[in-house]
Amino acid sequence: MTKTKVEYSCTSCGGKTVKLMGKCPHCHSWNTIQEEMVLKQTSSTNRYQGITTTSAKVQNLDEINTSDYVRKTTNINEFDRVLGGGLVDGAVILIGGDPGIGKSTLLLQTIANLAQREKVLYVSGEESSEQIALRGKRLNLKLQGIRIYSEIELQKIKMQIDVEQPKYVIIDSIQTLFSADLTSAPGSVSQVKECASQLNRLAKETSVTMIIICHVTKDGELAGPRALEHIVDTVLYFEGDTNTNYRMLRAFKNRFGPINEIGIFVMEENGLNEVIDPAGIFSNQSKNLPGASIFVSQEGNRAILVEIQALLDETPLPNPIRRSIGVDNNRVQMLCAVIHKYVDMPVYSYNVFVSLIGGMKFSDTGIDVPTFLAMISSFKNKSLLEKTVSFGEIGLTGEIRTVGNAEDRVKEASRMGMQRVLTAINTKNKEWAKKYKIEIIECKHLSDLIQNAFF
Ligand SMILES: Nc1ncnc2c1ncn2[C@@H]1O[C@H](COP(=O)(O)OP(=O)(O)OP(=O)(O)O)[C@@H](O)[C@H]1O
Ligand SMILES: [Mg+2]
Ligand SMILES: [Zn+2]
Repeated sequence: MTKTKVEYSCTSCGGKTVKLMGKCPHCHSWNTIQEEMVLKQTSSTNRYQGITTTSAKVQNLDEINTSDYVRKTTNINEFDRVLGGGLVDGAVILIGGDPGIGKSTLLLQTIANLAQREKVLYVSGEESSEQIALRGKRLNLKLQGIRIYSEIELQKIKMQIDVEQPKYVIIDSIQTLFSADLTSAPGSVSQVKECASQLNRLAKETSVTMIIICHVTKDGELAGPRALEHIVDTVLYFEGDTNTNYRMLRAFKNRFGPINEIGIFVMEENGLNEVIDPAGIFSNQSKNLPGASIFVSQEGNRAILVEIQALLDETPLPNPIRRSIGVDNNRVQMLCAVIHKYVDMPVYSYNVFVSLIGGMKFSDTGIDVPTFLAMISSFKNKSLLEKTVSFGEIGLTGEIRTVGNAEDRVKEASRMGMQRVLTAINTKNKEWAKKYKIEIIECKHLSDLIQNAFF
């Protein structure tokens, strides 16, 4: 027995409403409510079964047989690093990213490696098999063993997975799939959710590892409801400015490893290549110009030097502009207020632009101090001292706070030949501080920074 029903749901949070509305009552986003036809199957198949096959019984947690996750390398170190050491059997991994950033390229390269050892199935709803073969040839990949299937109907895909018995399945992309159980169009909230949860169930039942490509919305979030992030084990974002060649893979959620670990790639003629030592790619260290400052960032286990540039441009208009690329705009606005209040500079009559080199985005709050220094340097039109780096968070009272992993950051700065690091750490009781050939200058307040950063 089936019956159709019209439902309205939010494309952003997946919340349901009884009628078409301009604003979602659940997450308050505008114009996100969509009409959907839902076919309710009452004599349904096993869509809502639990994941364990045996009828579940209550057990003692310490008596449950476990084996540690076996991690399988993708033979791409940067990818393994973000995954927490490699792929885990039965895991479902979602990869989101802007159009053209290289999602399909990365996954094709990955499965070309995996196919050397185990069976893989690439399900493409976006490109024809020929296009993918062409890409494989262009990238000079070993294509033997890669099974390809151009299909968008979920039931057929599940059937083929059953026939082919692959160890890895790539879905390119979840937005193109549809389940025949529902009448709404591919890409709609209910379809995306349904397809993702059915694939997730299949992965858990059969221990197939699934890597699912997912589009992102204009704001850079995964297109589809937030609920999608809860369904899967791992959510990765592939980011970077498409105008530059550098790409960053970042874990946003990971049930099998740490988050905030990043993988850095460079897009070249032969595809995406790993950047093993990212030193120097994000900065222009040879020239020391007014408005530039070097930040020692820490992403996951890795410290990276990144150049921040700021431009303060005087404007007669009453509402000066504050724009930032790669740095959180709220932090830039906060820094403007802090500068006005504690440094007594008329930032209110300046347009402020801040940008991170290389089109990268960093979530580390230690970016405050170097951003502040770049802004002051641009304002004074004076270069910072050469070979000087900094990190630290700035509070609303103008005090500098320490951030994590100070030692790793100092070590990397010293390795890169820097001579001075401005930060809030007190080195007196830090044994490691003497180990590195670099001067650590303790700055507690904004005035200390200004005093020590210039000639
Ligand atoms: N012939 C080529 N030579 C060099 N680079 C190319 C060539 N064709 C494509 N590229 C690079 O590959 C990128 C596209 O990669 P890919 O198709 O993997 O992206 P995607 O994230 O899967 O995009 P979509 O969301 O459209 O599926 C392009 O942005 C371009 O940089
Ligand atoms: Mg693609
Ligand atoms: Zn909503």
